[in-house]
Amino acid sequence: GRFGSNILHSIVKQKYGKNVSWIVYPAARTMSYVGDSQISFQLKEYPRAINSFYNQTAIDIAAAQPSVRLDPATLLYSSKSPDGSHLLRSAQFLHKELPVRIAHRISGFRSLPFIVGCNPIIISVHELYIRAFFILSEFRAITDLETEKQYSEMLKNLLDDHRDVVTKLASGFQECRKHIKEEELVRQFLDRTLTSRLGIRMLAEHHLALHNEQPNHVGIINVAMKPKDVVDRWADFTRQISDHKYGKAPEIKCNGHITASFPYIQIPIDYIIPELLKNAVRATIENNPDKPESNLPPVIVTIANNDADFVLRVSDRGGGIPHHMVDHVTRYHFSTASITQEEDTGLFSTMISESNHGPSGPMYGFGFGLPTTRAYAEYLGGSLTIQTMQGIGTDVYLRLRHMDRKQGGFRI
Ligand code: ADP
Ligand code: COI
Repeated sequence: GRFGSNILHSIVKQKYGKNVSWIVYPAARTMSYVGDSQISFQLKEYPRAINSFYNQTAIDIAAAQPSVRLDPATLLYSSKSPDGSHLLRSAQFLHKELPVRIAHRISGFRSLPFIVGCNPIIISVHELYIRAFFILSEFRAITDLETEKQYSEMLKNLLDDHRDVVTKLASGFQECRKHIKEEELVRQFLDRTLTSRLGIRMLAEHHLALHNEQPNHVGIINVAMKPKDVVDRWADFTRQISDHKYGKAPEIKCNGHITASFPYIQIPIDYIIPELLKNAVRATIENNPDKPESNLPPVIVTIANNDADFVLRVSDRGGGIPHHMVDHVTRYHFSTASITQEEDTGLFSTMISESNHGPSGPMYGFGFGLPTTRAYAEYLGGSLTIQTMQGIGTDVYLRLRHMDRKQGGFRI
């Protein structure tokens, strides 16, 4: 509490140029200030995250409701109607559902250890969610297509305003890392926040995509996704970035079920694949510093497709993950890439942000790639497993369930 109030004190001082002292009631998670009677503080002058400790009824009511998770088949078969009524129904669903999900995220921020919740970057993300909550929940009832259009416009802006949330969380937690005693608590917070956010963004993107006619797509669902095409596209991209950074890049080859195609949502795949390729390419290059490009061992992606699920294995000959690190690489903030080195920040960080599709901002060097990827895979009813042969290389298996209702599938 003492540390927390000191931080708040300096934030308030910095932002408002006034001194205040605080009484902190950690158990109740509420706080008030004991006024220096000279200072009159309006409630609205508080940063919104702090204001919300007082003014939380709307958020509390929404947070008490369960979210409604959708079967992807429901998204797929939400049939198109010429009069646009499917757009109305979809917007009405989001109008009800998104405030509930956002309120759950706000509860998550409120339950963080006090010292973590007071980090300025984390407060700024917390505030972003409070802002989103009010924008979404105060939007008028959607009863006609003109209102729906404005709702979609607002959603698009929100998606944009929240684009860098993952990067912000990564740096916020990085800053207060040394104060974190309950690592498990933070892991749970990040897993839930990031996967729930993925779900929220997929729903919002789906609604926006219903407005456009894209070949082979119903909303965000690619009705004939070819894993090989997705891998190839990201392989080119990863190699370009590697070439730019190191002046060379290993070949990335695809084998197995290279002709397979099936309905799937490409958004999470577009996040996961480049993360895995980036790791494999980096290990290959760092393990073979003196080899010219033509002698670099290739990264091999094997695709396996079957009735229940599909598997992508990314194999590299990058020397493997040392014994003492194996158990740590899927922990948030475990990275052997130094983000303090100016030169390294730019390395692959541009990669995800340039793509502009993924639900994340720049990643590289925060040690967020593998834990986030694993959380996403599990959210989608799959798994991420790592087999490493020290001295040789690493195989990463990404297993994802088909979105078929009969197989149990998953929910968004
Ligand atoms: P980052 O790439 O930001 O460091 P990741 O979560 O993607 O974060 O990876 C964490 C760490 O795991 C990396 O810094 C690296 O040391 C190790 N690692 C990941 N993939 C591989 C691989 N294929 N071969 C060797 N080491 C790896
Ligand atoms: C996020 O991206 O953080 C979201 O929750 C998106 C939502 C505000 C539309």
